[in-house]
Amino acid sequence: MQNLKIELTKNPKQKPADESKLGFGRIFTDHMFLIDYTGEKGWHDARIVPYAPLEMDPASVCLHYGQSIFEGLKAYRGVDGKIRLFRPEKNFERMNISCERMCLPTVEPDFALHCLKKLIEIDQDWIPHSDGTSLYIRPFVFGVDKQVGVHPSDHVIFMIILSPVGAYYASGLNPVKIYVEENYVRAVRGGTGFVKAAANYAISLKAQQEAGEKGYSQVLWLDAIEHKYVEEVGAMNVFFVFDDEIVTPELQGSILSGITRMSTIELLRQKGHKVVERRLSIDEICEAHKNGRLKEAFGSGTAAVISPMGELNYKGEKITLNGGEIGEITQYIYDELTGIQWGKIEDKNNWTESAIEN
Ligand code: PLP
Ligand code: COI
Repeated sequence: MQNLKIELTKNPKQKPADESKLGFGRIFTDHMFLIDYTGEKGWHDARIVPYAPLEMDPASVCLHYGQSIFEGLKAYRGVDGKIRLFRPEKNFERMNISCERMCLPTVEPDFALHCLKKLIEIDQDWIPHSDGTSLYIRPFVFGVDKQVGVHPSDHVIFMIILSPVGAYYASGLNPVKIYVEENYVRAVRGGTGFVKAAANYAISLKAQQEAGEKGYSQVLWLDAIEHKYVEEVGAMNVFFVFDDEIVTPELQGSILSGITRMSTIELLRQKGHKVVERRLSIDEICEAHKNGRLKEAFGSGTAAVISPMGELNYKGEKITLNGGEIGEITQYIYDELTGIQWGKIEDKNNWTESAIEN
């Protein structure tokens, strides 16, 4: 494993005094991790340095052609004082799938995790203490060749920054209102929807903005060909609870394989629920709502945790779910996942590990 240089800040920043006002992703810790890659030298010059703006050539490839991908995971300060990561190897595996798709070099997962743990160790006092708060971890990889011809960058940077966070949605665990998008599309099979390419998020902003103007927190994307099958929400996978089964859209190439999604499926199955991954049309959802079969719906994601959906708006028709209240299964899965993450309940699947190396 290559050497990791560490330069500590001489000017530590003030930590947030009121953890109830953290919000999401606006405050960053004292240090950041960087490593460079070139075709000639491979990955080199791994370093943790004081958090600071980057100097970048105006011709950098990532700025012009979006050759950039990212990950998102969290470190949790447990009720027992232990700081935990939740299935971090899955994030670094997925980061490499994203890198491959975007012609970026992959990173050795064990080395990435080692560097992350060192960064957390240095900035551990930034991890908030209040219920529901955590340290959001943002690894990202981007091309910085200075050449505006369209090409895969030879010079690439992998970085990790850290942000103490509260709830992703201002409403917290209260049900969110979702707009079912029928005009704009997010991803198509063969494209980049299954990876965390920065571009996926850039192209979703317009629909998100228009839904926001109508009073909705997020859009629910439909498939790009028929505008019929449910895919996912901007930052979450989705689950619909019917009478006899819980359905989540199958992974068919245009939606992200969420780590919270896979954990939710496993936990629900372990509890004895029938969880099915299949194509699910918006018409089936509307029909099930009309005949009383649709009980609850929720989204899953690292940032959003488990987020109940209170209302769906499809073509102007409003579907209220579970009377706009959080449903029984949604609450169960929220309690179970967060219980494991904050060390409140036993982690029977061995999904968590210490965020700091011994
Ligand atoms: N879908 C999209 C588009 C996302 O950005 C995210 C967040 O990472 C998810 C789903 C949920 O994925 P995960 O549970 O791995 O955070
Ligand atoms: C995450 O949940 O980690 C995400 O990456 C969502 C992000 C778009 C805020």
